[in-house]
Amino acid sequence: MNGKIKVALTFDDVLLVPKKTEVASRREITLSTNLTRNIKLNIPLVSANMDTVTESEMAIALAREGGIGIIHRFMSVEDQVLEVRKVKRSESFIVEDPYTLTKDKTVGFAREFMKQKSVGGLLIVDVNNKLEGILSRRDILFADDELLVSQVMTKNSHIISVQKKISFEEARKILHEHRIEKLPIVNKNNEVKGLITSKDLRKFEKHPLALKDDKGRLMVGAAVGVKTEDFERANELVKAGTDVLVLDIAHGHSKQAIKVIKELKKKFPKIDLIAGNVATAQGTKDLIVAGADAVKVGVGPGSICITRIVAGTGVPQLSAIINCSKEAKRLGVPIIADGGVKNSGDLTKALAAGASSVMCGNLFAGTDEAPGITQLRNGTKYKVTRGMASFGATLGRTARENGTIKDDDFSDVVPEGVEAMVPYKGKAQDVIKQLTGGLRSGISYCGARNIKEMQKNAEFIRITAAGVRESKPHDVELV
Ligand code: XMP
Repeated sequence: MNGKIKVALTFDDVLLVPKKTEVASRREITLSTNLTRNIKLNIPLVSANMDTVTESEMAIALAREGGIGIIHRFMSVEDQVLEVRKVKRSESFIVEDPYTLTKDKTVGFAREFMKQKSVGGLLIVDVNNKLEGILSRRDILFADDELLVSQVMTKNSHIISVQKKISFEEARKILHEHRIEKLPIVNKNNEVKGLITSKDLRKFEKHPLALKDDKGRLMVGAAVGVKTEDFERANELVKAGTDVLVLDIAHGHSKQAIKVIKELKKKFPKIDLIAGNVATAQGTKDLIVAGADAVKVGVGPGSICITRIVAGTGVPQLSAIINCSKEAKRLGVPIIADGGVKNSGDLTKALAAGASSVMCGNLFAGTDEAPGITQLRNGTKYKVTRGMASFGATLGRTARENGTIKDDDFSDVVPEGVEAMVPYKGKAQDVIKQLTGGLRSGISYCGARNIKEMQKNAEFIRITAAGVRESKPHDVELV
C-alpha cells in the first residue's frame, strides 16, 4: 500500500453530455457490435450465465432479437448440452438432423418425446432412417396414449418431400401450394436428410435481426468452469454446436484461469473464448495475452452480488469498463461489461465508456423466458433470482457434485451473492425493445449513429447527489 487512493466512479456518478446530432430518426441508428474477435452481434445485449437467467428459452429470445444468451453451467453436462441443442434446433429454416421415431412406438411415448424436445411434430422412419410418415401434434391431439404411431401418423404416400436443400422462397412456395406445415428433405433412397417447417419459416421472417450461424441456426454461448472435468464439458458443448465458450469464474485474473484459457484455445482453436471476470487493465491484458477473444469485466457490480461487502474488493463498474476497454482496444479485443446495468441509461453509459456489449442478469431475470416460476406476493408478480455464489446456489452445486450435503457443507459456505425477488416483466422481447430504444436515443444524444461513433464522441460529466436526485422524477406523486 503506497498511501495513494485512486478514485473510481460508476453509472449513477455520471451523465453523458448531449452533442449536436445529424440524426433525424432513431431508425437511422445501428446497434451492431463485436461480441468477440470474430463474432458480431446485431444488438449489444448478452444474457448472463446464471441459473435464474439463461437457459434455452432466454437464449432463443436474445438471439432472435440479435443478441446472445450464455447457457449457465450449474447443471449436468447432458442438461447443458440439451439446452444448447434446443437453441440450435429452434429455428434454422432447415433442421439438419430432425427428431425421428419408429412407427411401433405408442402415442403416449411420442407425446412425451415431443414435449421433452419441445417440437410440434416428428418424422417417422424405419430402422434405416427411411421416411415412413409424419406425426404432428394434430394427429395425437385426441388420440389414446395406447395407440401405435403407425395408426395415427400421416403415411408416406401422402407426404410431399424434396430431394435437395432448397431456398427459403422455394420452401415457402411449396408449403403454400400444398397447404402443408412440414416438408421433409430426403435423398434418392428416401432417407431423411432434413426438415423444413412452416413455423420456422414464419419465425425466420419475423426476426430480421436474428443472430444466425452460417447454417441459419440461432447462435448461443455456454459457460464452463476451470476444473479438469470442464474440458469434457467444453468438448460436448462444442460438439452440440455452441458458438462461443465463456470461461466464467468470479476472480478471473488468476493463474488457474490463464492456464485454462491457453488449454481451451489449444483444444478448440476455432471456437471463440470469452474469459473473465476482471476489473483492471492488467487483468484484461493477461487474459487477452493468454488467448481470450473477449474479456468480461465486472467484479461486484451485479444486482445480487455481495463480493464487495464480503471481500472488500471490486472496482466501481464505469471506471472498470474505462480502464479495461483502453487496454483491450490496444490489443484489438472487445470487452463485455458484466453487471450493474439497471436501465437503458446505464447500458448507454457502459457502451460509451468502451464496452462492446453488455451482459445483464437482473434486467432479464423477471421475464417469462427466465427459468423459474412466477410468484404472487401482495398482489404483485415476481420471479426469483439469485447470485451464483449465493448460499442456495453454492449448496446446490455441492449437492450435485458430491451427490449429498453434509452438515459441515452448510457452515463452509461463505456466500458472495444473495437470493432475491425481481418484479415480473413479461416477455424478454419487450424488455429488449425498451433497452434498445433507450440506447438508440442515447446514441443520438451523443451526436452519433452507431456504438463506435458514440465511443469516440462520448463526454462524461460527473454529477453530485443533487444531480442524481434531479435526474429522477421529483416533486410529483407518481401514478
Ligand atoms: P446484474 O446486475 O445484471 O449482474 O444482475 C449480473 C452479473 O452478476 C454476477 N454475479 C455475481 N457476482 N456474486 C457476485 O459477486 C454472485 O453470487 C453472482 N452471481 C452472478 C455475474 O457476473 C452476472 O453476470
